[in-house]
Amino acid sequence: MRDASSDVSILVMNGPNLSRLGKREPTIYGSQTLEDINSELAERFPMVAFEFFQSEFEGALLQKLFDIEDKGGFTGVVLNAGAFTHYSIALRDAISAITTPVIEVHLSNVHSREEFRHKSVISAVCKGVICGFGVKSYHLGVQALMER
Ligand code: DQA
Repeated sequence: MRDASSDVSILVMNGPNLSRLGKREPTIYGSQTLEDINSELAERFPMVAFEFFQSEFEGALLQKLFDIEDKGGFTGVVLNAGAFTHYSIALRDAISAITTPVIEVHLSNVHSREEFRHKSVISAVCKGVICGFGVKSYHLGVQALMER
């Protein structure tokens, strides 16, 4: 979906279990699928050249970050790392190793949930954190990157 005529290129990357959105705990995560979320972003921000990526695998997420960093020209990354947020030092180090800015997003307000979700090992190396606004968290992440 990248388009050479766009000034703003954003990778929207989702980690484990986010492929299950729509079916997964809808009372917490809503009823929209990841595809719905991605199409809504593309519709809402037609001026942005989006790339969308999801994986259940930690290494695949790291590799994607390195690929876009090496390709160059990306304005930033909107990242919902799912549960990796809370314990993946490898993901933290990968974000820290690249110069492309990363915004951490979550659908739910992780601070109002179980204690193990209160800690993020990636926040310190992200440009900012947005959580608790459902699908809007992604929109706000894109907005934040566009305004940087
Ligand atoms: C999540 C919150 C995480 O704690 C959880 O592991 C997820 C989704 C969210 O978007 O609210 O998979 O990142």
